[in-house]
Amino acid sequence: MRLSSCHNFHDFRRIAKQRLPGPIFNYIDGAAEDEVTYRRNTAAFDDCDLVPNVLRGVADVDMSVTVMGQKLAMPVYCSPTALQRLFHHQGERAVATAAGKYGTMFGVSSLGTVSLEEARKLSGGPQVYQFYFHKDRGLNREMMARAKQAGIQVMMLTVDSITGGNRERDKRTGFAIPFKLNLAGMAQFALKPSWAINYLTHERFKLPQLDTHVDMGGGVMSISKYFTEMLDPSMTWDDVAEMVKHWNGQFCLKGIMSVADAKRAVEIGCTGIVLSNHGGRQLDGSRTGFDQLAEIVDAVGDKIDVMMDGGVQRGTHVLKALSLGAKAVGLGRYYLFPLAAAGQAGVERALEQMRIEIERDMKLMGCTSVDQLTRQNLRFRR
Ligand SMILES: Cc1cc2nc3c(=O)[nH]c(=O)nc-3n(C[C@H](O)[C@H](O)[C@H](O)COP(=O)(O)O)c2cc1C
Repeated sequence: MRLSSCHNFHDFRRIAKQRLPGPIFNYIDGAAEDEVTYRRNTAAFDDCDLVPNVLRGVADVDMSVTVMGQKLAMPVYCSPTALQRLFHHQGERAVATAAGKYGTMFGVSSLGTVSLEEARKLSGGPQVYQFYFHKDRGLNREMMARAKQAGIQVMMLTVDSITGGNRERDKRTGFAIPFKLNLAGMAQFALKPSWAINYLTHERFKLPQLDTHVDMGGGVMSISKYFTEMLDPSMTWDDVAEMVKHWNGQFCLKGIMSVADAKRAVEIGCTGIVLSNHGGRQLDGSRTGFDQLAEIVDAVGDKIDVMMDGGVQRGTHVLKALSLGAKAVGLGRYYLFPLAAAGQAGVERALEQMRIEIERDMKLMGCTSVDQLTRQNLRFRR
């Protein structure tokens, strides 16, 4: 199957599955425990139908939005994800460049494989730095200073990962960083020699956001150890309030789900929240961002920018979220499978398809700008 025959999420996923060793494909594709939340993320959009208006003169569509002070040419952004150079040797470089070309925002993860400074140079689009909270407060401040220095526009603190999710697919394959594959996992790598050649003939794997602070190189620190030993499970709202003050700019919490927490985020001076369950990878059985949107927008939508992510595969999903009041929508696996399938060309094709779908869907809805999408255009089935 070739890139030119990829027309949707599922086509890209199929190529990614063909290209990647099983343990890596399952790391991307998998989620926590029974993966109920993962499935619900996409299914939630099907509980609601779009009610179009017609004959509205829709020759020119403007899908741009402004979120957390950043103007985006399209209402979707590439949510931060870890370990991208494992999926394709171009990794974050491909995503940063593609996002820049499409005039949108992208995130670099704390567990990113390209430095936030290098990504900043590659992209004209706004950049998010996805951050975890460390026990060492000095380290937190140092990392924020580094991000400021690099010209990062938005700080995004992930708050749904206070402990690692129970990802059983990874347990079965032995997926971990550094690699600790079991026999079955190793056999899966042997089946994909072209991935291995590609991986081994490019620069050494590193985690440049962390390696000045944490020794990942010699296998001294694994990612799971990083989570248990370096990150602070006692983090509270007071700690985050201090960070928000210290950053003194656009600050967003990723992984908010309750109205109470959304209100706290406003109180401590955050400028954005992302309703997210981490793509179903953390608390299985938790609610979806889309299902929580209406009540959170009603509670705080006039005081803070509300975004959502999880399960987005189609332009119509984006339109439904915007109609409920989301300011922008995050994409995860939607761009990761194309990255794995074909690097930058894959991510660009996926973003182009999303752009075309949103434009077509807005025309079919009778809308020429995002502010015309309202709850009047939606009906829930139950
Ligand atoms: C392989 C993978 C790695 C991820 N790594 C991170 C990460 O390092 N930090 C983070 O905040 N979220 C991470 N996420 C979550 C995404 O930012 C986003 O919330 C999620 O993928 C959205 O769901 P979707 O994949 O269904 O679009 C990751 C998701 C995936 C699939």
